[in-house]
Amino acid sequence: MPTLYSALRPLLFRASAEGAHHLSIRAGKLGQRAPGVLRALFRAGLPADQAARLGVRTLGLEFTNPIGIAAGLDKNAELIPMWSAVGLGFCEVGSISAQPSAGNPRPRAFRLPQDRALVNRMGLNNHGLEVIAGRIESTGRPPRFPLVINIVKTHDPGILGDAGVEDFVTSARRLLPLADTLVLNVSCPNTTEGKTFEDPEALAPLLDAVMGARGEMGSEVPVLVKLSPPATVDFDPGAVNELVDLCMERGVAGFVATNTASDREGLRTPSEELEEIGRGGLSGAPLAARAEALVRHLYRRVGAQVPIVGVGGIDSPEEAYRRIRAGATLVELYTGLVYEGPGLIPRTLRRLVELLDRDGLERIQDAVGLDG
Ligand SMILES: Cc1cc2nc3c(=O)[nH]c(=O)nc-3n(C[C@H](O)[C@H](O)[C@H](O)COP(=O)(O)O)c2cc1C
Repeated sequence: MPTLYSALRPLLFRASAEGAHHLSIRAGKLGQRAPGVLRALFRAGLPADQAARLGVRTLGLEFTNPIGIAAGLDKNAELIPMWSAVGLGFCEVGSISAQPSAGNPRPRAFRLPQDRALVNRMGLNNHGLEVIAGRIESTGRPPRFPLVINIVKTHDPGILGDAGVEDFVTSARRLLPLADTLVLNVSCPNTTEGKTFEDPEALAPLLDAVMGARGEMGSEVPVLVKLSPPATVDFDPGAVNELVDLCMERGVAGFVATNTASDREGLRTPSEELEEIGRGGLSGAPLAARAEALVRHLYRRVGAQVPIVGVGGIDSPEEAYRRIRAGATLVELYTGLVYEGPGLIPRTLRRLVELLDRDGLERIQDAVGLDG
């Protein structure tokens, strides 16, 4: 049976990718004024004892389920009540930078329908630390809904080296008290200097500074690091291991895997079209296998005690479950929601319970890393 979203999608897809995004944000802001209506619309319809099987305890927090939204969808933390009302277990807002940024010139987001993918070079547009922190303070937080906040260095090639570290630390100091978990985005492919910190020589001083500031504040908020996807499924793990070990030595609590990819390997979209689109981070289905491979690798490397947030190409309940079985304790959606619509959320929750039954498992947490 066609869903409401599949009927509306051709209309929505007539707008530019960014235009459709703004429309969705506007609709979300309207919708969250009536959270009761949203809750009724997005009811997964699971009896309480079945829904409880999806609960996850990790990062010192209780999640009602392991499905959240990925960074970039709510960069300015405008929709936190809505994410809770539609049945998600958590949301990751941001990336937030110390200074506001308009991002790159438009157009900067593109659909690749033949690949169920997107390419974006948004360039870390966001309202900036002070505005967004103030918004989070005044919005009020839905109960039992962990807030993950993602921070990034201000998009300004003039802020580099020690100044870049200081810029990150400014955001960490302001946002640690508001976050349940803080993510350091060191893997954005969309600014000339966005990946500077995904290099051991740069990451070590950054982590020292952020973890040092956290210690001085007496904060126990867990800090995660968001990584780039590997170039292939059978990647050489040397470089990743170096980064991961460095993170573990410095008290990082876990990883978000993965960010978007810079390459265009194996796409169905014709190369002329890709050339016309130009540079940007690739997200969606073509990322799934590589992102899963990295989750599996991380799980083997760091073990079950270090949570991994799996993201990249998750567009079905089965894909979410695969990522969990590969080693992800939590999973996040972005491009999958663009192609499947918000009905993907209740559908995933219902189906996860069926998949647990199929595999003779009691709780979703029992599935983490079974195929790791
Ligand atoms: C338009 C767009 C903007 C994004 N912005 C951010 C961002 O600000 N910070 C970040 O860490 N990741 C950002 N991402 C990456 C996503 O969080 C996610 O890692 C990536 O899209 C892979 O997941 P997906 O295949 O489910 O989309 C963005 C992705 C898209 C498509």
